[in-house]
Amino acid sequence: MEEKINSTEIPLSITDFGEEFVWGVATAVFQTEGAYKKDGKGYSIWDIFSNEKGNIYQNHTARESCDFYHKYKEDILLMKSMNLKNFRFSLSWSRILLNGIGEINHNGIDFYNDVINFCLESGITPWVTLYHWDLPHSLELQGGWTNRKILHWFSQYVKVCASHFGDRVKHWMILNEPMVFTGGGYFLGVHAPGKKGIKQFLPAVHHAQLSQAIGARILRKEVNNAQIGTTYSCSQITPKNQSKRNAKAAIRVDALLNRLFIEPVLGLGYPSEDLPILKKLKPYILSGDMERSTFDFDFIGIQNYTREVVGHSYFVPYLRAKIIKATKRNVATTLMDWEVYPASIYEMIKKFNSYRKIPRLIITENGAAFKDEPIDGEVNDTNRKLFLQHYIQHVLKAKQEGLNIGGYFVWTFTDNFEWAEGYYPRFGLVHVDFKSQKRTLKSSGKWYRDFLGKKV
Ligand code: GAL
Repeated sequence: MEEKINSTEIPLSITDFGEEFVWGVATAVFQTEGAYKKDGKGYSIWDIFSNEKGNIYQNHTARESCDFYHKYKEDILLMKSMNLKNFRFSLSWSRILLNGIGEINHNGIDFYNDVINFCLESGITPWVTLYHWDLPHSLELQGGWTNRKILHWFSQYVKVCASHFGDRVKHWMILNEPMVFTGGGYFLGVHAPGKKGIKQFLPAVHHAQLSQAIGARILRKEVNNAQIGTTYSCSQITPKNQSKRNAKAAIRVDALLNRLFIEPVLGLGYPSEDLPILKKLKPYILSGDMERSTFDFDFIGIQNYTREVVGHSYFVPYLRAKIIKATKRNVATTLMDWEVYPASIYEMIKKFNSYRKIPRLIITENGAAFKDEPIDGEVNDTNRKLFLQHYIQHVLKAKQEGLNIGGYFVWTFTDNFEWAEGYYPRFGLVHVDFKSQKRTLKSSGKWYRDFLGKKV
């Protein structure tokens, strides 16, 4: 459906966003770093999951990935040449703490110190995500996110990161998309650790929920002048038609996909009135937990790619709603079969803006996968350039209407390991030949570079 993508170029000017607006690129450690057992690193749940046959597209693994572990200088210099001033990446818990808890792996600390220092020397601000889905395997053997002890394990890990990097890293995100890692990893079993069912999902949700605020409080105490956030996946939810049943189905899906993790943080509790299955969280909620779940974040990262169209369904347990695939709706899609729907990003900014307690919103991920192949050394990914222009135009619309949007990060810098889809979908501004590790700046990357380069 790529031919359906709106081919009108949008003449955007960075000046319209103002000087304070933050621009960058986002990555995640498991998707880019490789070196999966180098220098004392332990295994994460994604190392284990991706090495089991049948879990990943064509059994791809991330053992080498884009080899950021060895190529970080080259990559950061490339960022610099693209006028990038902000780089969002995550830290590998399994590289930092042997067994996930206890003894520190000093090689891991040294590596992240090198990355952070090289960013700063290159005029690039590091934005660090503490947890982007790669739980140490040894902790999963004890139940992972379903075990309440994770609150203690996670706190130890956050303290180590704060004390080693907090003197230079001032922009932090606690979790990446808790809905996706609890839903994919502990309910559907399509992501690591591959667990299934409501009995796994509910405790994982509650412990991830608490960890956001607990981790944030540790950073607030340990790191001077920190800007602390956390990130959520979100998509505009549209009922397939205006029938009452479908409208109610859309409300349930919205509660699950968009509201579940942010509302307890703001002191609003779980949205169980609109999604009754959440009442079953009760046995996991100990006295004082809902107060402990709240935190005044400095910013909330929202990550938007598409919208979902939903209808009522008796056959889907708990949710009684199903997503109508974009490929069945005759709309433009990306290689992930996600609808290209730029207005969704505007709607999500508006939705999160309506929670009055959030001081600043940042788009911490937005981007698109296409099948990019170099031809004579060039990657002409016009679709991605158009995708970005149209989405950014909607970010601008939100800004001009006075909504509290303060930044935008493209997902992603280099093509990388796209979880269960392996290396098939390419999301990068930079093409990676995974055999030779050669980087080629795509035309979308050149467009972003030139857009960022125009002085405010
Ligand atoms: C997000 C995730 C990223 C990346 C992206 C594209 O959900 O945080 O790691 O994979 O989607 O699918």
